[in-house]
Amino acid sequence: MNIFVFETSLEASQYAYDLVAKALESGANTFGLATGSTPEELYSIIRDSDLDFTDAKAVNLDEYYGLPADNDQSYAYFMKKHLFDAKPFAQTHIPDGTATDVEKEIEDYNTILSENPVDLQILGIGSNGHIGFNEPGSPFDSKTRLVDLTDETIQANKRNFESEADVPKKAFSMGIGSILESKQIVLMAFGENKAKAVKETVHGEVTPDVPASVLKNHSNTVILLDKAAASQLD
Ligand code: F6R
Repeated sequence: MNIFVFETSLEASQYAYDLVAKALESGANTFGLATGSTPEELYSIIRDSDLDFTDAKAVNLDEYYGLPADNDQSYAYFMKKHLFDAKPFAQTHIPDGTATDVEKEIEDYNTILSENPVDLQILGIGSNGHIGFNEPGSPFDSKTRLVDLTDETIQANKRNFESEADVPKKAFSMGIGSILESKQIVLMAFGENKAKAVKETVHGEVTPDVPASVLKNHSNTVILLDKAAASQLD
């Protein structure tokens, strides 16, 4: 796990962009993507770039259960707005939050993941150490499933909704086992509220209590931090 600390999140995002550009140039064609505030600057830099993803595929980490793609809080909507409308991909995949046959949706997503091995996975991290929506306690060999969001995650994400009651309590999430199959992983963390999770990930033991700590078992992971997120590192 290589850790780089930058003065600002923008500089870290520029570094992440360089990794994406290099991967694309080297023939990577399947990108695992995250939503949330963390990758917004990266997606903005990509939007303004001349990178061409028209032969590439995107596979997203997660989607709120119950939200249709046209709901402006859905992750499908987020991806269109922040990336896909400006940078078309040959294929984009994201779980269908409105799927009525949950088991089939899960099976289909796992098939998509096994047929499209991810070359480079972008990750954020929750203040409780989650990656994707793999909350503390998630098994390291987990595959896509419907998960219950923890209260900490609901509290953190309510900023985007009109009220806490509107925040979905469940989500489809790629499992930790699938995330670890990616050839390269780029985790970004910005801001003081991520400092404790970053410290536990970097300095703590590898434990399901801190899902991101498993990235120490992955041979090609970089962690890009701004100074605030790195503030509790030794
Ligand atoms: C989003 C995702 C989550 C977020 C995490 C951090 O697709 O998988 O793990 O990366 O909750 O969210 P932000 O970036 O909003 O702080």
